[in-house]
Amino acid sequence: MLVKNVKRPVPIACCLLLGASAALSGQPSGTVEIHILDQVAAKVSPQLYGLMTEEINYSFDGGLYAELIRNRSFKEDVKEPVHWSLVQENGGAGSMTLDPSTPFNDAVGTSLKLAISTSAKGQRVGIANEGFWGIPVRPNTQYHVSFYAKASPGFSGPITVSIVSDSGATVLASAQLPRISGEWRNYQVSLTTGGIAPSAQNHFVISTNQAGTVWFGMVSLFPPTFKNRANGNRADLMQLLADMKPAFLRFPGGNYLEGNTIATRFEWKKTIGDASRRPGHLNDGWKYWSSDGMGLLEFLNWCEDLQIRPVLAVYAGYSMHQERVKPGSDLAPYVQDALEEIEYVTGGPNTVWGARRAKDGHPAPFQLEYVEVGNEDNFDREPGSYDARFAQFYDGIKAKYPALSIIATTKVNSRMPDVIDEHYYRRSEDEMAAHAHDYDSRARSLPKVFVGEWATRVGEPTPNMSAALGDAAWMTGMERNSDLVIMSCYAPLFVNVNKGAMQWRTDLIGYDGMSSYGSPAYYAQQVFSRNHGDEVLASSVQGIPSKEWQPPAPRQRPAAPGQVQTPTAQPPPEQVPLVFFDTTRDSKSGSIYLKVVNRAGMPQAVHVKVDGTAPLDSRGQLITLAANSPDDTNTITEPRKIVPVTSTVEGLGQDFTRTFPPYSISVLQLKRK
Ligand code: AHR
Repeated sequence: MLVKNVKRPVPIACCLLLGASAALSGQPSGTVEIHILDQVAAKVSPQLYGLMTEEINYSFDGGLYAELIRNRSFKEDVKEPVHWSLVQENGGAGSMTLDPSTPFNDAVGTSLKLAISTSAKGQRVGIANEGFWGIPVRPNTQYHVSFYAKASPGFSGPITVSIVSDSGATVLASAQLPRISGEWRNYQVSLTTGGIAPSAQNHFVISTNQAGTVWFGMVSLFPPTFKNRANGNRADLMQLLADMKPAFLRFPGGNYLEGNTIATRFEWKKTIGDASRRPGHLNDGWKYWSSDGMGLLEFLNWCEDLQIRPVLAVYAGYSMHQERVKPGSDLAPYVQDALEEIEYVTGGPNTVWGARRAKDGHPAPFQLEYVEVGNEDNFDREPGSYDARFAQFYDGIKAKYPALSIIATTKVNSRMPDVIDEHYYRRSEDEMAAHAHDYDSRARSLPKVFVGEWATRVGEPTPNMSAALGDAAWMTGMERNSDLVIMSCYAPLFVNVNKGAMQWRTDLIGYDGMSSYGSPAYYAQQVFSRNHGDEVLASSVQGIPSKEWQPPAPRQRPAAPGQVQTPTAQPPPEQVPLVFFDTTRDSKSGSIYLKVVNRAGMPQAVHVKVDGTAPLDSRGQLITLAANSPDDTNTITEPRKIVPVTSTVEGLGQDFTRTFPPYSISVLQLKRK
């Protein structure tokens, strides 16, 4: 019997479970029967698919932010100029030390001192930077060098800047600056490579053959960037993001927003303006230094370059080591700071912070619709803390910006947030799939839901096909319930795959200095985000096969000191579906997008019947992302093993049967005749 589902949300869930239980009760799964009706069950949010970002896994420094010099302002370590080394060649001699007694400026209270004791023609003394796992270079490419320097009396130069292969055998590009002044000055020069082989096993050198002392301030080396932005982003990574057709960017974190302590939170005011005046900060949550080259305006420019909306998360007075600010007068400056941040984003040039943004190079205000107050404040163990902090932020923001929608990071009672951010990291494909119907029966009362972080955590450093299948199952649930789930973004977005760069496994996009790739989960996202309509069609299903699955025992919080931890009981086994689907329609073109996720290791026949819609063509488009094994994946050396394949298919229409391959994610576009 075909169970009709004309009203959502409950009947959809209900009929899917009926389908699953048919298989459960021992009947052969056979053909899955999908019945699609000409009835709009929900609207699909135009901003359902977006991006989430933070400084993790060398996402910005050593990642998207195109700067090639590591520890460019010498603040990464207070004792040593880490990632820098002294160059002494052919008898030249000198020393290299951090020199806090010669601060570079009032934001960067140190400089790098190069004292050259012996150097003459043919000799060389200098400083070399190893970059982020090397300095990647390509043939016939122009690199932009900028550094600050001042010289001791008597030293005038010249100074040579070059990119040199680690073997020392090849100078890949070089330029000379004839004079260095006795005052702090900025020097800029281009380095252009010739017909060299692309490689990352190189370093950057500033050297001289004159004796004397030179102090250096921020040393920077940029390759060409996306849309040629100064202080911009890596073009290949931006293109991967653009190809996802996202609607928004949630930034700046995640844990990176909060810091372990209040002192190490993301302080937006220290991330704007001239990059040489940004102090940088210890990203202690993920345990490495952040140059803050990717600052507030760079996040906004990133949005502008992809033509997407910012979702701005503001620091809300809680940091991860249980440091929190007391609501009331203690919290008031933090609320004010958030209001000023919003003004920096949205204010006209006649406002204080809008004027500051204009001075920083962007006179036009950015459009902002959503502000998120904090991150994962469910981890704040003080009862009532977030409720009170949220209320203070909510009141402050709504008073000045009533049109803004405010996102809470966990349940609150004090105010009704416009949206609530829910995070789901699942430990297996089955676990993700087991939750794919969670939203079907969720009450439609406010607030709306933003699934602001989620992932099936299988695969390292990037998710494999099994994870992509779990993700796809989950995405059918979000899409089907997109009247409630209005926004979603996978996390984390990026990982530098070099040894030692990763703090969190299962990241959507991997890269090293030279190249980048999308994981199977990346392509699943891309396929979902690029292929959906604006309305969910009512549908019913029968005959969904399922398998037995053992849910993990619930996670436990660590026991408080002096308390004994009682083990949590293992939940009973459950049945979890192997096939998932959802159906949306583009109201303008009439095209119907049927997504089918076959998690099984066998092909799955699906009989589709469409009732009541405008007649559908027998020819349509099929996009398939499939693998031979759920363990298959893409890597930096095999980046395109699993990619979507698009084809034109025949035999579609109002009533057809099609077989979907094992381990596959498919979108059938049924076009109006
Ligand atoms: O995505 C990695 C981390 O997971 C985020 O920083 C945090 O919000 C979540 O716990």
